[in-house]
Amino acid sequence: MARKNQDIVTGRRALVTGASSGIGEAFAKRLAQDRYDLVLVARNKERLEELAAKLRAERGVGVKVLPADLTKTVQLRKVERAIESDEHLEILVNNAGFGTMGHFADLDAAVEEDQIRLNVLALVRLTRAALPHMVERHRGAIINVSSMAGMQPGPTTATYSATKAYVNAFTEGIFEELQGSGVQVQALCPGFTRTEFQQRADIDTSALPDLAWMEAEEVVDASIAGLNGGDVLCVPGLLNRLLATTVSSIPRPVARRLLGTAARQVLR
Ligand SMILES: NC(=O)c1ccc[n+]([C@@H]2O[C@H](COP(=O)([O-])OP(=O)(O)OC[C@H]3O[C@@H](n4cnc5c(N)ncnc54)[C@H](OP(=O)(O)O)[C@@H]3O)[C@@H](O)[C@H]2O)c1
Repeated sequence: MARKNQDIVTGRRALVTGASSGIGEAFAKRLAQDRYDLVLVARNKERLEELAAKLRAERGVGVKVLPADLTKTVQLRKVERAIESDEHLEILVNNAGFGTMGHFADLDAAVEEDQIRLNVLALVRLTRAALPHMVERHRGAIINVSSMAGMQPGPTTATYSATKAYVNAFTEGIFEELQGSGVQVQALCPGFTRTEFQQRADIDTSALPDLAWMEAEEVVDASIAGLNGGDVLCVPGLLNRLLATTVSSIPRPVARRLLGTAARQVLR
């Protein structure tokens, strides 16, 4: 008797990059709850397998683990091929990303390059891999996880803010191209969210009040709700939306100066 393919249960699939922690893990949990089979991508195979086992057992969905370092050309190509050949893919969440903090001249050039490879290049390649099938079928959604940091220049986070500004502009561009196609795209722009991000970026957030933070699950819920509502730029949380509106109404040189002053306090 032919063995049942354990990866296909519901026949509707979502692929999440950076699914081993934080916002990506929260997306995986939410999409499993919404009855999507999953493909989970990140470098840490053990963490992905642990999450996959939990979601199979608790949600009864099919979960495939695809470990990959998306800054590496060959490994990125492996994920691209998996997407290109997947007729069941309905949702792509380009979430994997990281940031660095410091004066650009002092930062490691290779790490800055990897940041652009992951936050920008991988996201562009995977979007390109997913779109043709989605457009052909007149259905599907791509969520590109950006950041509020992409909405203004980022003194001491220059590369990170620039990668996220790219994600916003790129996503808005294809959003217009896809009007009437049945395919949705969203740039999700969270503010401070409790994940491993700050620790990995070596950012001291001890002075930030509780009020400034959101949980990864809240960010994901806002994204899914925004997707159904057709928002291209989704800023989760009332406080973040107020902040985004305020910053965008300030002249750019003033915003830049204020952010530079704030960044100097953090770096001291
Ligand atoms: N947390 C925040 O305050 C915040 C705010 C705004 C935007 N964001 C954005 O949210 C997204 C998710 O970050 P997070 O906050 O959830 O941080 P996180 O907990 O550090 O998660 C980052 C994820 O990306 C994966 N990843 C990192 N490098 C990778 C690589 N080279 N190849 C493949 N996967 C890689 C990590 O898994 P492995 O280590 O296993 O590879 C992990 O699953 C990022 O794009 C970030 O820029 C976060």
